[in-house]
Amino acid sequence: MRLLVTGGLGFIGSNFVRHILSSRRDVSVVNLDLCTYAGNPANLADVEGDRRYKLVKGDIADPKAAARAMKGADAVVNFAAETHVDRSILDASAFLRTNVIGAQVLLDAALRAKVGRFLHVGTDEVYGSVAEGFSTEGDRLEPNSPYAASKAAADLVARSYFVTHGAPVIVTRASNNFGPYQFPEKALPLMITNWLGGEPFPLYGDGRQVRDWLYVVDHARAIALVLEKAEPGQIYNVGGTYSCDNRELVGRVRALMGVSQELVLPVPDRPGHDRRYALDCAKIKALGYRPAYDFEQALKATIDWYRANERWWRPLKKHAGFKSYYRRQYASRLA
Ligand code: TYD
Repeated sequence: MRLLVTGGLGFIGSNFVRHILSSRRDVSVVNLDLCTYAGNPANLADVEGDRRYKLVKGDIADPKAAARAMKGADAVVNFAAETHVDRSILDASAFLRTNVIGAQVLLDAALRAKVGRFLHVGTDEVYGSVAEGFSTEGDRLEPNSPYAASKAAADLVARSYFVTHGAPVIVTRASNNFGPYQFPEKALPLMITNWLGGEPFPLYGDGRQVRDWLYVVDHARAIALVLEKAEPGQIYNVGGTYSCDNRELVGRVRALMGVSQELVLPVPDRPGHDRRYALDCAKIKALGYRPAYDFEQALKATIDWYRANERWWRPLKKHAGFKSYYRRQYASRLA
C-alpha cells in the first residue's frame, strides 16, 4: 500500500510514520510536509535511508503540491496542522489556512486522484469543555479556542466531502498526546525540558483542568487500525489510559524527576481555557483497539527520552523563533 502522509515531520505524524514502516513491510510512505517550526527533519532521521520512505517539502494548502504528492497514493493520512492552542490565541491565521483550507485542498486532490481512503486526524478539543460524562462521536461540536474551531471546521468539511462527493473519509479525534519528539511548547515537554534546565514550569490558572493522556505510540497504532478496518464516513474517538488534572500531572512528573514544588509557578490562566476533555471510546474499542502502554510507564519513558535527547530539544528552545514566542506568551505571566 502506498500511503501519503501529510505533516509526517511533526510529533504525531513522525511517530506514525516510524510505526507503520516498522510494523508493515508492504507499506511505503510519501511524507508531504511544509517543514514549519514544528516539522523537524530530525524527527525522522532514523528512517531517512529507508527506500520505502520519501519526504516531499510542500504545503497541503497548495493545490499543485497536493496533486503532485497524491500521485499513486492508495490512502491519505492528514496530520498536517497547526496545533498549539496558545499560538492560535496570539494569531489564528495560520490555523485557518492550514487546518481548514489545507484540508479542503487535500480532499479535492484526493477526490481527483480517486484515492481509496482519506483519514483525517482530529482532536477531542472540537467537543469543547465537558463538565461531566464523556463525549461521543455524535455530540455537538462546541470548540472554544481558534485552534479547536479550525479543527472542527476541518471535520465538517471532511464530512461534507463524504456526503456530497462520496469521498472515502474517516475522521479520528484523539485526546492529549505525549511521548518522544513532542515540540517543547506543549505542556508536558515544556515542563520536562524547563525542569531539566532548572527553570520553572508556568502552571495556568488553578491547575484543575482535566486532560486525557494518550501515549503517541498507542495513537499511531489506533490510526493504523482505523485505516485498515473503518468504514468511510465514520468518526472515531481515540483516548488514552489515564485522565487527571494539571496539578496531578505536575506532581507525578515532579516525583519522577525529583523536582521541588518551587519549580511550579502559578501564572494567569489561558483565556477560554477548557476545564475538561473526556472521550467515550466504545466505538474504536469495538473495532479492536486496546492501548498497549501503561500511563506511568509511558510517562517515565517520555521523561527518559527527553533526558537522553537534549541534542534534539536544546536547539529548538534556543531558536530565535521559539524565544520570541516564549517571550510573547510568558513574559507578562512570569513577570
Ligand atoms: P497543552 O499541552 O497546550 O494542550 P491543550 O491545551 O491542547 O490541552 O496544555 C495541556 C494543559 O496544560 C492545558 O490545560 C493547559 C496547561 N498548560 C499550562 O498550565 N502551562 C503551560 O505553559 C502550557 C503550555 C499548558
